[in-house]
Amino acid sequence: MAHHDIVAGLDRILTLELVRVVERAAVAAARLRGRGDEKAADQVAVDAMRAELNRLPIRGTVVIGEGERDEAPMLYIGEEVGTGEGPEVDIALDPLEGTTICAKNLPNALAVISIAEKGTLLYAPDVYMQKIAIGPGYPKGLVDIDASAKDNIANLAKAKGVPVEEVTACILDRPRHAKLIEEVRSTGVAIRLIGDGDVAGVIHTTDPDETGIDIYLGTGGAPEGVLAASALRCIGGQMQGRLLLDTPEKVARAAKMGVSDPNKVYTMNEMARGETLFAATGVTDGNMLSGVRFGRHDIQTHTIVMRSSSGTVREIKARHQDMDKF
Ligand code: FBP
Repeated sequence: MAHHDIVAGLDRILTLELVRVVERAAVAAARLRGRGDEKAADQVAVDAMRAELNRLPIRGTVVIGEGERDEAPMLYIGEEVGTGEGPEVDIALDPLEGTTICAKNLPNALAVISIAEKGTLLYAPDVYMQKIAIGPGYPKGLVDIDASAKDNIANLAKAKGVPVEEVTACILDRPRHAKLIEEVRSTGVAIRLIGDGDVAGVIHTTDPDETGIDIYLGTGGAPEGVLAASALRCIGGQMQGRLLLDTPEKVARAAKMGVSDPNKVYTMNEMARGETLFAATGVTDGNMLSGVRFGRHDIQTHTIVMRSSSGTVREIKARHQDMDKF
């Protein structure tokens, strides 16, 4: 059996295992929702995710994680996780995506993870990435990171068959986006300005009827870009990203991770080149996923899990009665 088949065969089983990993991280973080303490919420999510990840029958290496080894004690880049038996895989994770959202108890904080065939994810340094993303069902190349926002939006509206006024763009609310926001507003498009959480922002483009988002634009974290690309590979959609390597130090850091062309535009398939599994559990209530509910007799979680090889997207609402486990 070729390596690829081994991964493909096992990933059906891993799909459910992966759900447990994100559920655990989300429940841990949710206990600290709205406490104003980003660090503590992140820490408990990291601990929970790591413990559950180490139960998986994989030989996993964290390639997108909590940071470089010297700055992150757990789930750092290069950390080996899993039981040490099973397929060799790369792992991209963010136990709490949107630490500030969780601390403030605002919408769309997630626990996210992606498992990919070894060597197939972009090893992105922790720098910014310029991103553009739209959902499935559009002609290839409809939007382009190097085209103006105005043109991209006009093309999207035309392909969707609606006036631009009926298109909504999602952009991180940051001073660095002032010009972009101004340009997008001048087209007549509605903007959803989000305080944080652009993994969710990108994924939301895949289901505009549910989320109200048609296109994601702007710069956010590069690790988050790879996570989002991995999700879009499973659901479908288009995404491009370009690392913002604006200092020699960043160029050198990226080069060490294998990035030879600092200006390269990565397509979705270049950020996640092989088969991937992706899972996310809502921590706070969001547009796609409900947040964790703590009931009197159980804990409820809402998770989305998907596989690129089949394109199956599952939503799993779980009731956990064994509350002591969490
Ligand atoms: P954290 O979960 O690490 O707080 O990241 C949240 C986030 O909003 C990401 O979704 C996004 O990619 C990044 O931060 C944007 O970075 P910045 O806050 O520096 O603009």
